[in-house]
Amino acid sequence: MRLIIFGVFLCLTQSSYGFFGYTRKYNNHEEPFLPHTNRILLINPKTIGEKWIEQRLDHFNPQDERKWMMRYFENDEHYIPNGPIFIYVGGEWSISAGSISAGSHIYDLAKEHNGILFYTEHRYYGKSHPTTNTSTENLRFLNIDQALADLAFFINHIKSRSSDLTNSRVIMVGGSYSATMVAWMRKKFPHLVTGSWASSAPLEALLDFYEYKEVMTNAIKLVGGDECAETFKNAFKEMEHLVEIGETRRLHLAFNLCSSLDLTQDIPHFFYELSDIVAGLVQGHRPGNIERACDYMKDQKETLDKDELDAFAAWIRKGSWTCLDMSYQNNVIKFTNIEWGSEANRQMRQWIYQTCSEFAWFQTSTSKNQIFGTTYPVDYFLKLCQDLYDNSFNLTTIEQNIARTNTFYGALKLSLTNVFFTHGGLDPWHPTGILEDLNESTPVVVLPLNAHVSDLGQISSYDSPELKATKEKIQELVRQWLNE
Ligand SMILES: *[C@@H]1O[C@H](CO)[C@@H](O)[C@H](O)[C@H]1NC(C)=O
Ligand SMILES: *[C@@H]1O[C@H](CO)[C@@H](O)[C@H](O)[C@H]1NC(C)=O
Ligand SMILES: *[C@@H]1O[C@H](CO)[C@@H](O)[C@H](O)[C@H]1NC(C)=O
Repeated sequence: MRLIIFGVFLCLTQSSYGFFGYTRKYNNHEEPFLPHTNRILLINPKTIGEKWIEQRLDHFNPQDERKWMMRYFENDEHYIPNGPIFIYVGGEWSISAGSISAGSHIYDLAKEHNGILFYTEHRYYGKSHPTTNTSTENLRFLNIDQALADLAFFINHIKSRSSDLTNSRVIMVGGSYSATMVAWMRKKFPHLVTGSWASSAPLEALLDFYEYKEVMTNAIKLVGGDECAETFKNAFKEMEHLVEIGETRRLHLAFNLCSSLDLTQDIPHFFYELSDIVAGLVQGHRPGNIERACDYMKDQKETLDKDELDAFAAWIRKGSWTCLDMSYQNNVIKFTNIEWGSEANRQMRQWIYQTCSEFAWFQTSTSKNQIFGTTYPVDYFLKLCQDLYDNSFNLTTIEQNIARTNTFYGALKLSLTNVFFTHGGLDPWHPTGILEDLNESTPVVVLPLNAHVSDLGQISSYDSPELKATKEKIQELVRQWLNE
C-alpha cells in the first residue's frame, strides 16, 4: 500500500492554510492562507513575475564556490522609484504569486508606500533546489543560517540593481517559521532590514514541546466546549485501551486502515498522526471550524447513536477518500525518498530534517494536561530523525543542535527593535514565542480567539475589532519605520 496520506485530509482540515510543525504532513506544508479572497483571480500577470537569483550553496565556506538558483516573485504594480522594498519571506513551502497580490495585507502596505514587493522562496523548498537531491549528505546546506544569508544577499542584489533602489528601506513580513526568519533578520542584519512584522513566530527551540497539545486541548474546550473535548479525550482513551488488550481489529474497521496495525512499531505513529489531524483543525482554525467539527461528532453520537470512538473516527474518515495508511514503515519509505518532485516528498523530508537539526519542537503526548493520549513521547520523534536521515541524529546531538540554535539566536531573551510580533491565543505554537512587549519599538499583540497566522490577509469586514486593530497597528508601525 503506497502513500495515500497526502491529500487525504484536504477537506477535513479546511485546507489550505498550512504551515508548520508536523501538522500539515497530510498535504505538505503550504503557504499561509489568505481568507476571503480568490488569489488566483487577483494575480496581475503584467506586474508579477517569477524570477531567479544566483546564491552560494555555502555562505560560510569561502573555499566553496558552488552556486544554485533561488526563486522569487516580484510585484512592481505600485512601485515608484525610490519607494521602499517590501519582502514577504517564504518558509517551508512552495511560494506562489497570489500571496503578494491584492488580498494580502503586505500588498496593501506596499501600495500605500508605493513600494516594490517581493516574495522569496526558502532554499530546499518549492522550486529552489540547491542540490541534486535531498540525501542526508546534501541536506547539510539546509538550515536557517544559510537561509538568512540568502535573504541578506537577496536584499543587496535588489538594492544594487538600480540606483532607484539603493537607498530604499526594507520591510520584511513572515508567518510561522518565516516569522522567525524575519525577526532574526532584523536582529542579525539591522543595516539591511528597517523593520519586520512576525506573525506567529516560534523563537525558542525546544526538545519536548508538550505545550502544543495543551494549547490544542484548551482551544477545543474554549471554542468547542467541554463536551467536545471529552469526546476527543474518551476516544483516545478507548483507542489506547483497545491496543492494550490487543483488539486492534476494531481500530482497523473504525478508521478504514489500509493495513493492520503492527503492534511493535505502528502504535506511537498511529496516535501521533490522529492527534496531528486534530492539530490541523486547531492550528488552522478560523471562526466556525472547530465548532463544525464538534457539531459533527455530536451529531454522530446523538443521531446515529455512535460511541465516542466511532464519532471521532467518522470525523477523521470524513476527510479521506480512501483507506488510511498508518504504517510507520510506509511513512519512513515515503520520507526517505530523496528525489525532487517526488509527490510524497515535496516539503516534509526537508522540514522534519530542520526539526532534527535545529529546532526539534516535538509535539509530544508527555503532558498530563492534554487529551490526545500518552503514546508519543520524545522517543517517537527521535526514532523518526534516526530512520529518515541515516542515523545521523541521536538524543545527544539533537539536544546540542537545539542549544546551538538558542545560543545563536537568543530564544526568548532577545534585544530587538522594530519588530512587531503577533500571535493567536488559540495557536498551539504561541508558547514558543515572545508574548509581551519587548519595548516601545517591539510590541506584541496576542489575539485571544485567533489561531496560527490568521492576520496576513487584507483588512476586511470579516475581521474582529481586535484583528482589524492589529492590522492597523502594523500600518502605523510601518509608517514610523519608514519615516525614522
Ligand atoms: C544524490 O546527489 C549526489 C550529488 O549531490 C550524488 O552523488 C548521489 O549519487 C545522489 N543520490 C542518488 C540516490 O541519486
Ligand atoms: C550520538 O552521536 C554522536 C555523534 O555521532 C556520538 O559521538 C555519540 O556517542 C552518540 N551518543 C549516543 C548516546 O549514542
Ligand atoms: C528597545 O530595546 C533596545 C535593545 O534593548 C534598545 O536599544 C532601544 O533603545 C529600546 N527602545 C525603546 C524605544 O525602548
